[in-house]
Amino acid sequence: MLTCKKIAFFNHKGGVSKTTTVFNVGWMLASKGKKVIMVDADSQCNLTGMVMGFKGLDELDDNYNNIKDALSPAFESRPKLIEPVECFEIDEQSNLYLLPGNIKFAEYDITLGMSQTISDSLVTLQNLPGSINYLLDETAKRYDADYILIDMSPSLSSINQNLFMISDYFIIPTAPDYFSVMALDSLSDVLPKWYTQAIRLQKNEIIQDAEYKFPTKTPKFLGNVIQQFNVRSNQPTEGFRKWFKKINEYTNTKFIPSLNKKSMLLNDSCYNENYILAEISNFNSLITYAQEHNKPVFSLTQEDIKQSGAVWTSSKEKISSFKKLFSDLANSILRMTNEEC
Ligand SMILES: Nc1ncnc2c1ncn2[C@@H]1O[C@H](COP(=O)(O)OP(=O)(O)O)[C@@H](O)[C@H]1O
Ligand SMILES: [Mg+2]
Repeated sequence: MLTCKKIAFFNHKGGVSKTTTVFNVGWMLASKGKKVIMVDADSQCNLTGMVMGFKGLDELDDNYNNIKDALSPAFESRPKLIEPVECFEIDEQSNLYLLPGNIKFAEYDITLGMSQTISDSLVTLQNLPGSINYLLDETAKRYDADYILIDMSPSLSSINQNLFMISDYFIIPTAPDYFSVMALDSLSDVLPKWYTQAIRLQKNEIIQDAEYKFPTKTPKFLGNVIQQFNVRSNQPTEGFRKWFKKINEYTNTKFIPSLNKKSMLLNDSCYNENYILAEISNFNSLITYAQEHNKPVFSLTQEDIKQSGAVWTSSKEKISSFKKLFSDLANSILRMTNEEC
């Protein structure tokens, strides 16, 4: 039986660290001995660029190893089965793999949307709603993966709806600002609607009769990850604290009750009172070194950043404090996804 768990990292707001969090959490889970496949489902391919460097992106074009080409048998009605993807392997982290993105993946959005809404009458589209799930499951089997982390685009596209509905769990990366509070407000309506639609697909005989079946599952909320705020004396600065409070308020009064109605929560004992999985402050100058070396901030070495003396001592402290944060975050994910709470 396939025990690989899929976690969607989703917020339709851009720039809230979805991609960065997928990469950092993936790396950390892999360093704890889990086999992890990160999926770049955003046609902007930021995750692919982060992992492979932009040189790697150029080389991707002609190879049959990205999400769009892998799904083409279903979407372009080729008479062959979807095959698992040969993932990109990460030299420095042998348990970590990337299923690369493709800039043209978004072209499948309209057809997928049709298949998710009017499939009652169209047998030709019956294989699409379950196709991404099938591809991810087959790829997970090929690598004997424990986790699939899905990096999603900043939109309410049909592809995102599908990815959300086929996930076991989801995490909402967010930033302490006005727009993130508004995003949380709108997700309180959107996610339950998506779930209702998933139930409809799960019950649809034509779709359940398809080669690629639509899975029967209820995505469960793991928590918010708040990022990119400034700190003073180890505390978010005043301006940011106000938005932390607002995010907590919206989460507790609107978001959680709307998820609860659809059984999209784990047991109460799994969560802390704020539903915040981690608070990750601004990486500041460390982010540039991380990007240069295609690795997470917390894995940077003295050699990577070429500093010495007091400057290195200070950077080293920051690196280890980020390492602790991401290690704690990964431990929470491990605990919650094994439902040991
Ligand atoms: N904690 C952080 N500190 C500083 N910069 C960050 C942090 N997290 C992400 N970034 C940067 O912010 C930008 C947006 O992050 P990204 O992960 O691409 O967001 P998203 O995928 O939600 O659009 C990127 O340039 C990224 O390097
Ligand atoms: Mg992104």
